This record gives sequence, structure tokens and C-alpha cells, in this order.
Amino acid sequence: MSTGQLVLSAGVIVLTAAAVLGAQTIRAGRTFASWHVGRPTTTSHRRTPTGAHSTGVRSAPPTVKPPIVTTLPPERVGVTRRRFLNRALTVAFGTFIAQLTMDALAFLWPNLSGGFGTDVNAGNAQDLLDQTINPDGSVTPVFIPEARTYVVPAPGATPLQYVGKDVVAGGVFAVYQRCTHLGCRVPWCQTSEGFECPCHGSKFNSMGEYYTGPAPRSLDRFVASIDGNGDLVIKTGQIIQTPRLSRLNVGYPRGPFCVG
Ligand code: FES
Repeated sequence: MSTGQLVLSAGVIVLTAAAVLGAQTIRAGRTFASWHVGRPTTTSHRRTPTGAHSTGVRSAPPTVKPPIVTTLPPERVGVTRRRFLNRALTVAFGTFIAQLTMDALAFLWPNLSGGFGTDVNAGNAQDLLDQTINPDGSVTPVFIPEARTYVVPAPGATPLQYVGKDVVAGGVFAVYQRCTHLGCRVPWCQTSEGFECPCHGSKFNSMGEYYTGPAPRSLDRFVASIDGNGDLVIKTGQIIQTPRLSRLNVGYPRGPFCVG
């Protein structure tokens, strides 16, 4: 979970707790007010200093009524410690369930606002192609973090095994960074001009084609296209797998390996 999501989650928890506690407090206040207003009031008799009524007529000694003892229902008695603890537990449990639900929805709901799993705009295709080929003719991929992809140049003619698979667009390939063996991130090695997995030593040429190691196939690639502005669009939700090839389309290695 990213830092932004953590901050958002904490904010949701605090706001939810405050809202529930506020509602409880308001309800308790209303209950007390309605009970207080509904109580009968006692009538006081004003007397003269001698004890007679102000009308001057002596009356019989006042009858002393026994005090009325009323046992209030629990909901009319303020917030006891037990009730407070019950409410706190209810709020905590409700907040936990709400947060759990939000996290589950965030995980399951398709991410349509960009990022890995969606169509990622990698920028102008011609600019990308120019960046991948150095003046001396060597290759350096352009890494697109949002797509977890290396953009590498494709050979002049699209190799037969990629025809009709929409993986070459604007003269480049989009190669997934994930090793096809056990999923390690495969970094680029400039000296050999290929991808070398640091976990178990699988190696691939600049097009991601399998060369050696325990990987069962070449590096995966994504469906790619060029939009109306000439930008490369990498469809990271559509992975294309390619098997090991009997003959590589790009010579490899070009120099010393980075991983022994
Ligand atoms: S994960 Fe790359 S070779 Fe094993």
C-alpha cells in the first residue's frame, strides 16, 4: 500500500470514529433533554414570615407528601463507563470492518485511472526509438516505471514469430521487466547488451529473447500501439508470451556479462 493510501486510510478511520462518537453524543444529549423537560414541577407556596399564606387565611398544616423515587431506564442515565466501553468497542469494530471492505474493494476493483494493468502512454514513439540507439550503434533500453517495461528497438523487419501479435509499434518492443523463471526483476547489462537475472542467472538478448538459464521462455512483452499523437501506448493488461527460440533475432552477447 502506498504512503498516500495509508494517509487516506488513517483519515477515513479518524473521520468515521469522530462521526460515530458525535452521533452518539448528540443522541444522548437529546434523550437527557427530553427526560428533563418532561418531569413534573413542584408547586411552592409563598408564606408570610409568620407562616400564613399571603391571603391572610390560616390553613391547615401542609401535608408532607412522600418523595417520589423513580428508577430511570438505562438509556436515560448519562454515559456510564460500561456504556462508554461498549460504544468504543462498537466504533472500533465498525471502523475495522469499513476499512477492511474499502481495502478489499480497492484491491479487486479494476484500476481504470492509469498505472500498471492499464494502457500506459510511454511518450512519443520516435523519441523513444532515438533514445534506445546510441551514436555508436549500441542499445540502451528506456525504462517506463509505470508500465514496468523496457522499451527496446525492434529489428528493421518484424520477426516472423511476432507478426500479427501487435507487439511491435513504431519500431520498438515493450519488454516486461519480470523474469519468466520465478519473477525477479531483470536489470539491463550495458556491456553484454542484454537482460541478466540476478536471482538464478537467466540471460536474454536486447529483445528479451531467451539465451541461457532456468527461465522457461523469453521475457514477456506487451501489446503496443501508436495513438493519434504518435505516442507509444503500452497495453500492460495484455501480456504476450513467446517461447525459447532456436535462433535469436539479435546477436548476443555483445561483451562481458554483468552476472556470472
Ligand atoms: S528468477 Fe530469474 S532466473 Fe530465476
